[in-house]
Amino acid sequence: MSIRKMPRQKKLISDPQQMLFMEEAITVKSFYPARSKGQEIEEKFKDIIHEELKLGSLVSYVGNKSIPFLRIYRYKEAFAFNFVKDFLRRFEAGPDDYIFDPFSGLGTTMFTSMLDGIPSAGIDKLPIAYFISKTLPMLLLLKENELKEMWKTLLPRIEKNVPVDVAMDVPIMEIAFDEETFLRLRKLKSTIDDLSTSYRDIFLLLFFSILEECSFTSKDGQFLRLKRNKKTSDPIDAMSRKVAQVEEDIRRIKILFPRPSINEETMPDVYLGDTRDLSDIKFKKRPTIIITSPPYANRYDYTRSYSLELCFHFVKNFEELKAIRFGILRSHIESKIQKGEVPPHPVIKDVVEILNRKKLNNPKIPSMITTYFIDMQKVIKEWFKVLAPGARVAMVVDNVRFEGELIPVDLVLSEMAEGVGFEVKEIVIARYKGNSSQQMRKYGKVPVRESIVIWER
Ligand SMILES: C[S@@+](CC[C@H](N)C(=O)[O-])C[C@H]1O[C@@H](n2cnc3c(N)ncnc32)[C@H](O)[C@@H]1O
Repeated sequence: MSIRKMPRQKKLISDPQQMLFMEEAITVKSFYPARSKGQEIEEKFKDIIHEELKLGSLVSYVGNKSIPFLRIYRYKEAFAFNFVKDFLRRFEAGPDDYIFDPFSGLGTTMFTSMLDGIPSAGIDKLPIAYFISKTLPMLLLLKENELKEMWKTLLPRIEKNVPVDVAMDVPIMEIAFDEETFLRLRKLKSTIDDLSTSYRDIFLLLFFSILEECSFTSKDGQFLRLKRNKKTSDPIDAMSRKVAQVEEDIRRIKILFPRPSINEETMPDVYLGDTRDLSDIKFKKRPTIIITSPPYANRYDYTRSYSLELCFHFVKNFEELKAIRFGILRSHIESKIQKGEVPPHPVIKDVVEILNRKKLNNPKIPSMITTYFIDMQKVIKEWFKVLAPGARVAMVVDNVRFEGELIPVDLVLSEMAEGVGFEVKEIVIARYKGNSSQQMRKYGKVPVRESIVIWER
């Protein structure tokens, strides 16, 4: 298996906003203090950093909005189907490969590999992500009208059903729904719970996919945002629309992918697990390619964004929700730092020291940055252990900036990867992003890179 050389793309920027970012990107190094570790690492990797801004639209979920089945459940941290397609092509992946996404989320990597006839595996620590990525491939096994007919038989049962219990001691559950909608959702859920396993999982997936539109919440920020004036959907209408979407996708997929090779071999192997410790995972064989994106060091807390789903099905109470919160990668502000834990890389040490001297809007930021890189170092070591020799890694990462301090996450992780034995092949800049509007006002429009790091084992 050989690596196809990636074409280096020159700057081709038509979007004026992007152009503005670009001009400022050129001066970005001056935002590091003179001869800082940040500047040194930029210098070290500069010859293998290049732009491919056409990838910018593919590193987000938006590209999945037109893809059958992947559009059903909005997992907004996902990357696009065509991003995975592109990297499978670049790595010349075939049926002998074993594709691995160690932060599998919605399962975009596995779903795309499956449609390409390539076996794959994925791991996620968040139960809802694990559930969705395990269930999505099952939609491909449905026959036309099968779901619609099943839904018709469920409809008359819903009102009569006893509402399910949910984790009511989680504060958001008190305010996320109006009373009538909430009761209806709980009855609908209990009707679905009574089904046999495979139908139950498919209907549960649809149920989770309507919760946001039936609630006063919106997954559009770092947390689940409450929008009290939001127009909400009726659960039964919303479910009926989802059933219709799935039926439409069953027909569309036959046109878009006339001969998908879906069989036992290509059905993804999905695990609920922690990629910081892969010792218990029984891989069918050693993975040859990783296509992934980790949580970003940007304070997003998945257990908040997906708390409605978690509270409806995966946790019984607040304690269980918190156990998940403190069990995932420490990329969010409530992450706990252990005594004796220190920044594991000179760039991070520098930034943490500078931030510790500043007045921060959240004093926990330096700890979060420290724990993020400690965890990611563990992750990279685990990948090196499990991957086949010669395996390639393509990982999308976002650089971050706190109080004006830039963290070149792409380069720091790449240097860590070198430290355990990977060869860093390329750093591909997919897009430049502004920072939070607050930071923009204070420090100007300094763009931060969202890159794809490419390593070889
Ligand atoms: C950026 S998302 C990945 C999205 C994925 N590429 C997709 O297309 O859906 C990062 C994922 O990492 C998961 N995660 C967080 N901590 C983890 C851990 N310790 N082990 C495995 N997965 C973890 C999160 O639950 C989230 O689904």
